[in-house]
Amino acid sequence: MSFFFIQMSDPQIGLFAHAYKKYKNPRVIELLGKPPGDGFPETHLYQQAIDISNRLNPAFVVITGDLIQDPLNLDQYQEFTRISETLNEEIPMYLLPGNCDVGEQPTHNLIGLYRDRFGADNYSFDHQDVHFLGLNSATIFDPLLVPNEWENQKKFISMDLESAKNSKEIIAFMHHPLFGSSSDEEDGHFVLPRERRLFLLEQFEKYSVNTVFSGHWHRNNEASDGRLQVITTSAVGFPLGDDPSGLRIVHIKDGVISHKYFGFDQVPERIDIEKI
Ligand SMILES: [Fe+2]
Repeated sequence: MSFFFIQMSDPQIGLFAHAYKKYKNPRVIELLGKPPGDGFPETHLYQQAIDISNRLNPAFVVITGDLIQDPLNLDQYQEFTRISETLNEEIPMYLLPGNCDVGEQPTHNLIGLYRDRFGADNYSFDHQDVHFLGLNSATIFDPLLVPNEWENQKKFISMDLESAKNSKEIIAFMHHPLFGSSSDEEDGHFVLPRERRLFLLEQFEKYSVNTVFSGHWHRNNEASDGRLQVITTSAVGFPLGDDPSGLRIVHIKDGVISHKYFGFDQVPERIDIEKI
């Protein structure tokens, strides 16, 4: 068993302009050298991520949320879709929503819009002997307006992991990290609230989910709790930390998961699966 996939997060078409117009964020000028004008600065970044994927030919690409800044902005949606469609047809692409896609406090309307556009927001799939679980963590973060969604997620997670318990490995994807330093850390904007984090931790422990790949922070982070690794991946789009815009390459070989984040100009020319 040996393959690799690419995790991307937060292409978030429209964030540069939003950060400049709403917050006068100085990093926008720092990174772009000028104010955002016509078009989206994210176009070039997301297209690089797709071009690199086409060159490296991974088993699949997963994007862990914040696809666009504003789900009601049709230009952002169309630009995201236009670039996504340049991914080679043979490479499966798995998408998940972030808080920008379905709301800080998700609503039935925005979840419905997301599903109409992109398909299921909670799902699983298998590649070779590895099981992958994708979750809508925006709903887990705040299910106040959509309580039935969280109830359904809990049932789905338990049933799905039970059915996958004979898999060699189980890996989860979601936008929000479960935690950033320790599994019992305080609630806050950057991690899932403890109340619902605990449910996920119990399920992940019970079924030996060993790694969760997330985004949301627009910078890289790694944390662990026992066997569980929580990996936070910086942004394809606007970076908020020291890491450049980029993507993460994840190798799985004989039960060993290794991964590395690359800025777009640091990505190797090709991946030789036999040498990984
Ligand atoms: Fe984001």
